[in-house]
Amino acid sequence: MKIAVFSAKPYDEEYMTKTNEVLGQGKHEIKYIKSPLDEAHVPLAQGCDAVCVFVNDPVTEVVVDALASYGIKLILCRCAGYNNVNLAACKKHGITVARVPKYSPYATAEHSVALMMTLNRKTHRAYNRVREGDFSINGLMGFDMNGKKVGVIGTGKIGYLVCKILKCGFGCDVVAYDVYQSAEVKSIGVEYVDLDTLFRTCDIISLHCPLFNNTKYIINDEALEKMKKGVMIINASRGALVDTKAVIKHLKNGKVGSLGVDVYENEANTFYENHSSDLYLSDELLLRLMSFKNVLVTSHQAFFTQEAMQNIADSVFHSATQYQTEGKVTGEEFVPCE
Ligand code: NAI
Repeated sequence: MKIAVFSAKPYDEEYMTKTNEVLGQGKHEIKYIKSPLDEAHVPLAQGCDAVCVFVNDPVTEVVVDALASYGIKLILCRCAGYNNVNLAACKKHGITVARVPKYSPYATAEHSVALMMTLNRKTHRAYNRVREGDFSINGLMGFDMNGKKVGVIGTGKIGYLVCKILKCGFGCDVVAYDVYQSAEVKSIGVEYVDLDTLFRTCDIISLHCPLFNNTKYIINDEALEKMKKGVMIINASRGALVDTKAVIKHLKNGKVGSLGVDVYENEANTFYENHSSDLYLSDELLLRLMSFKNVLVTSHQAFFTQEAMQNIADSVFHSATQYQTEGKVTGEEFVPCE
């Protein structure tokens, strides 16, 4: 099948091309497109059988209507989350949506802990100091992770691993909140608590639930008011789980001691592109956020390991081939459009 791969970066091309070659006679025809799949660029999908999109491609109703008019019946998300795809529009047109459910939960879990440890031990600031010949350590004091109370919101594949690393590795006192309580998580000694208790008692809060209507701004002004002074918040899930304006207010008043984010609610305008030659960054909210010394922003790279990139390519082509041969995608890759 002919697949239009949108938001294609050099690393996508590398992994997708080499993985497709392995399919031999069953290989697909790939058209790499640097632009995102949005209303302006959707005509580039004409002549293809499927599109392959990434996390920030706005696959709106207008985009889906256009895809349907070109006869496209398959959207392949090369990510786990699919909140950027209008599923109702896909259902209307009978378009199948597939995703990559578990390309590497380790990648994102480990990056989340890396954000925690960098903020705690201030290695980002130490690196810069030493390079400038400043070997003083004033202001770089951290705290022992051992014994700290950590609250994990969302204990699926990634949240479970974060619990395991923190509980079994560091000896943290880990509590969790999820709408579904996992026996696996409980088996490592993690206690489920209600959200209110988690907000009020934790030294570190790490977000690993998906972005749904009911999780948007789960970290808002009201939640932040309840938290312990100096709380560390980590978000490597989806940007809009955190109300950025509210968190800035509480960074200013000292309630939030540090913030590590791999995702940001307006990231689609900035992330994944090189803006180093721009005169200024146009996103004033992001600029304000980055102005705090106790805030660490990475550009949605938690997933970005060799293992994850290989699994993404394998999974995308598996879904494409299955759709081509069976007319459907099954298993965890299939996204129900209900
Ligand atoms: P998963 O589906 O295995 O786990 C999600 C968990 O969230 C489930 O246990 C579910 O019951 C829980 N949940 C659902 N609604 C909730 C609510 N209202 N409150 C609390 N918990 C709730 O997903 P996985 O693989 O662990 O990924 C989690 C999220 O991480 C994804 O949805 C995605 O947004 C994000 N992600 C970010 C990446 C990055 O590069 N920064 C890479 C991969 C995923």
